[in-house]
Amino acid sequence: MNKKVLVTGGTGYIGSHTVVELQNEGFEVFIIDNLVNSDIKVLDGITAITGKKPVFEQLDLCDSERLRGFFSLNPDIESIIHFAAYKAVGESVEKPVLYYYNNIVSLLNLMKCMRDFRIPSMVFSSSCTVYGQPDKLPVSEDSPIQEAVSPYGNTKQIGEEIIRDTLHACKDLKAISLRYFNPIGAHPSSHIGELPIGEPENLVPYITQTGAGIREELRVFGDDYDTPDGSCIRDYLHVVDLAQAHVVALKRLLEGQNKENYEIFNLGTGKGVSVFEVIESFERVTGKKLKYRVVDRRPGDIEKIWADPSLANKEMGWATRYSLDDAMKSAWDWELNYRKLK
Ligand code: WQD
Repeated sequence: MNKKVLVTGGTGYIGSHTVVELQNEGFEVFIIDNLVNSDIKVLDGITAITGKKPVFEQLDLCDSERLRGFFSLNPDIESIIHFAAYKAVGESVEKPVLYYYNNIVSLLNLMKCMRDFRIPSMVFSSSCTVYGQPDKLPVSEDSPIQEAVSPYGNTKQIGEEIIRDTLHACKDLKAISLRYFNPIGAHPSSHIGELPIGEPENLVPYITQTGAGIREELRVFGDDYDTPDGSCIRDYLHVVDLAQAHVVALKRLLEGQNKENYEIFNLGTGKGVSVFEVIESFERVTGKKLKYRVVDRRPGDIEKIWADPSLANKEMGWATRYSLDDAMKSAWDWELNYRKLK
């Protein structure tokens, strides 16, 4: 009998890639998503890849009544992977109440359901934004948490604290928080990928839309940072590597391999890459020159961050396998396929 797992936000970018990897591992996947920031057609993309259509429920996790109704009808859900949250850093600064309400209330509702419906484990989608600008690099899980620079980042910090305190009180619950660095790319099939609604906030979709002629040019937000080429540095990892880490973390919990009832792992390549190096990767894999212009720094950007992924490597036996060029190529193929430009 396949183990049943709930993926909240499963039609989103990282969620949909994780659903594919879960199905490949034989899990029966239930998706809850309110479709505010994703398209239901993603289900067709998942099914095209795995041949299995996930069970889907359009539901807002802030609607406690409906959420409890879902769990009453699906009593044998064994675990939860929780992605559903608003995640645009800039938007969170403009709409803090929306972000605190949505990201925190949805988590609280889920935690109450875990207790009441006796669901023992959760994998939580966290972020490297909890570190702010680290003083020391690479950043490890015991690096100091800095004051959040955005309400979005603060909701991730608060989320981790809610889970930590809940598990301290309820020893029969267990969870793993995964702190993502910068996920990029798309499934090699090009059936699913990053689907920003409107003008992309993130670097790579903006690059591929510029390459496809949808955007006039890329604005590089500053080249006067204290880095080798002056542009900001991040740790970019392939979304399929990231998705597979969720399956590893879920199995760690289900098989009781976790050493504490609350564990935290950084998910990154361990390598810092600058904006200009990402542009060079795009030009290398596509053979196209990218049109860009250097403009002022973007408020809220940190200068440089990359992960020390050794804890995840050692404890979970997980490490990234795809290169920056692999990820960029998959992002470009997805852009061409999605726009039917192939
Ligand atoms: C990367 C670099 C920009 C766009 C993201 C997510 C955040 C979190 C961490 C999950 C920066 C530069 C960007 C552009 C540019 N992920 N840039 N021109 O800011 O690291 O945050 O990863 O929790 O939710 O947003 O990623 O892709 O926006 O920026 O020059 O048009 O690219 O200045 O240095 P960021 P990003």
